[in-house]
Amino acid sequence: MAAEWRCEKRSYSKNESFVKDDENVPETGCLSIIVLGASGDLAKKKTFPALFNLYRQGFLQSNEVHIFGYARSKISDEKLRDQIRGYLPQSKEGGAEEVTEFLQLIKYISGLYDAPEGFQALDKAIYEHEISKNSMEGSSRRLFYLALPPSVYPQVCKMIKFHCLNKSDLGGWTRIVVEKPFGKDLASAEELSSQIGELFEEPQIYRIDHYLGKELVQNLLILRFANRFFLPLWNRDHIANVQIVFREDFGTEGRGGYFDQYGIVRDIIQNHLLQVFCLVAMEKPISLKPEHIRDEKVKVLQSVVPINEEEVVLGQYDGYRDDPTVPDNSNTPTFATVILRIHNERWEGVPFILKAGKALNSRKAEIRVQFKDVPGDIFKCQKQGRNELVIRLQPSEAIYMKLTVKQPGLEMSTAQSELDLSYRQRYQGVVIPEAYERLILDTIKGDQQHFVRRDELKAAWEIFTPLLHRIDDGELKSVPYKPGSRGPEEADQLLEHAGYVQTHGYIWIPPTLS
Ligand code: BG6
Repeated sequence: MAAEWRCEKRSYSKNESFVKDDENVPETGCLSIIVLGASGDLAKKKTFPALFNLYRQGFLQSNEVHIFGYARSKISDEKLRDQIRGYLPQSKEGGAEEVTEFLQLIKYISGLYDAPEGFQALDKAIYEHEISKNSMEGSSRRLFYLALPPSVYPQVCKMIKFHCLNKSDLGGWTRIVVEKPFGKDLASAEELSSQIGELFEEPQIYRIDHYLGKELVQNLLILRFANRFFLPLWNRDHIANVQIVFREDFGTEGRGGYFDQYGIVRDIIQNHLLQVFCLVAMEKPISLKPEHIRDEKVKVLQSVVPINEEEVVLGQYDGYRDDPTVPDNSNTPTFATVILRIHNERWEGVPFILKAGKALNSRKAEIRVQFKDVPGDIFKCQKQGRNELVIRLQPSEAIYMKLTVKQPGLEMSTAQSELDLSYRQRYQGVVIPEAYERLILDTIKGDQQHFVRRDELKAAWEIFTPLLHRIDDGELKSVPYKPGSRGPEEADQLLEHAGYVQTHGYIWIPPTLS
């Protein structure tokens, strides 16, 4: 696969130095990637495999990069490498060799998260690496990836700030990558933000929402603003409702204890689905600069009116509480449908239905934009269903448009069909990168477009905090549903009530390759 990425009007190859206009920070030279929490699940399953994929595509050069794993357990470099090895994909020929080369770039340092000694040792190791690479101006680039629980973010950030900042004599930068949950409500999120904010500037903080790294989520801006088709239609005059749906066909599986503290609204809706919502509903940014895009996201979030509890359905699948780590009386929702309404000129009156559930009958994530009926319909096509634009985020990435056509044959009858852009068919042989790969690469490039800004996070919590408090206080109850079902019936009723018209007897089948 060609090792290049597109950015604004240019494309940058892996070897080309990339200097950001606004900051003039060199993006070349020695790069140290430090994975804190190196022996944890997130690091093993997501961070290291993403780094490996970047390495094998040539985005991480072995003469520039060194990777440091940091955690409490006292293990050797070799032991950490062995732990990681099994998670690295090695599909093609020569894969094993590449894995070994990659693993050799990793060094392990053990230390506590709240004591200086370990971080001083880490700093020394990074510095030695920087010096050994014949450092020149711009060659102390330090990326700290916190694959850790957020409760330790403040203390770890403090340690980094006081013991591990990039060496100013070498130039370069220090960046911090953190991941949700960013707090449990507005107050706790704001507290966390200010603790980190006292230590690092906003341009140094990269808050990951991995949905922003998905191919079709990244396509939304282009789809909406680079196609004349959609410009006049994308508003309350033509769109009846929008659904943003996340479904999983498995339960909390071994994560019950963690999940029960958060629930589906905090785990999926307040972050992943809300980010998608922003990109679907926001106004056109004045440019592609990250700050301009994020300004528009904040604006649309601030235009969301308080959630009406009548437009919320919560569910919990039968058997969820059988998990020994889940309390017997848990009211934590594993399913939720929440309708958001936007008070602005474009969207007044259009329900945005955000739906997420675990242990359902299928696994998929999609955006479904349903258009209004054709006025003065002479074909009686309303019976067959409305036009819909569906953006299938996963699996089987696709964009398809459900529309009415003439049924082929002698009769003049109508049928529902689709204009179908299925990625597997249209882009054969193209590997769609993993979300984490792109986002780590963006961090190295210093591009914050696909990361959540502090005020965006605040606005997101403002929307959901009152609802979450009511759930936490047991004032809103989760209704039971059967695992492997569509979720609670009440959710379908709410959908109907919101004006969604379901098409019966028509189903889109992803095309298979011939
Ligand atoms: C995570 C949630 O953020 O996203 C998980 O914590 C969920 O509960 C996962 O399973 C889904 O991610 P993806 O990329 O598989 O849709």
